[in-house]
Amino acid sequence: MKAETTIAGIRADLAGPRAGGQKIGFVPTMGFLHDGHLSLVRECRRSADLTVVSIFVNPLQFGPQEDLARYPRDPERDADLLRKEGVDILFLPEDKEMYPDGYGTSVEVARLQDKLCGRSRPGHFKGVATVVLKLFNIVQPDCAFFGQKDAQQVVVIRRMAADLNLEVEIKALPIVREPDGLAMSSRNVYLSAEERQAALVLFRSLEEARRSFERGERSAAAIRESVLNRLASEPLARLDYAEVVNPNTLDPAERADEGTLIALAVYFGRTRVIDNIILGSAGEAK
Ligand code: PAJ
Repeated sequence: MKAETTIAGIRADLAGPRAGGQKIGFVPTMGFLHDGHLSLVRECRRSADLTVVSIFVNPLQFGPQEDLARYPRDPERDADLLRKEGVDILFLPEDKEMYPDGYGTSVEVARLQDKLCGRSRPGHFKGVATVVLKLFNIVQPDCAFFGQKDAQQVVVIRRMAADLNLEVEIKALPIVREPDGLAMSSRNVYLSAEERQAALVLFRSLEEARRSFERGERSAAAIRESVLNRLASEPLARLDYAEVVNPNTLDPAERADEGTLIALAVYFGRTRVIDNIILGSAGEAK
């Protein structure tokens, strides 16, 4: 595995393989890797000739009150894991490499960026779209891999790729969970033992919603109500949102159908935990 910290370096590494017709696959991350990230890397390895992973804790997508300074980092462990997975190139740029003095351009995905997580994290998806477009321009991948864990992020990036005529194919992969159901996340290390246990309420309420859909419930309001009740039963949980939405527009759904997205964000202490399911699937995105 080759590690690169500069844009010029990674461009030079990729020029030959690209000219030789190799298919370049890309997995953008913020590091502190877990099996969720590695599932994307493995799929990338299966479907591309050359696998590029980036680790960049993108300051643009963190709000002023958010956890940028304490975001967990372990670049050496990450590099070991990626080497073992057979990754070809690891891109680890410094902030200044991505955002040099005078930097001023950003990408906004109107409407989608303001819904769900965008309501409590203003500017977050602008930061995500901007860095992902920059990374796409640097790596110029044929395909890029994202987790359904961040369902809104996938919708925002697909919209950006379509709107800006990007040639990259966006692939979304299922949520990887701990054995007890908690969705894996780099931020789970912030949870105390009690909060970690309490956070299972997200998965449980989503599973309950799935079962009620499978029994024939089609009212989005009824499904949302049952999710809210379940979340309210957990004293450590402080609700940010629980929404039953159209998976493309992220607007509230009236009817729950196959493909309808149920998305949750819940605080445990200062830690915000998100999770979601797509009804009528085993968790896979389209
Ligand atoms: P990060 O949170 O590090 O996640 C990198 C990728 O891993 C994202 O596509 C995310 O959805 C996926 N992922 C995280 N947890 C997962 C899980 N439990 N199961 C499956 N996939 C999971 O998302 C970001 O970084 C950033 O916003 C980024 C896209 C890198 C832009 O800065």
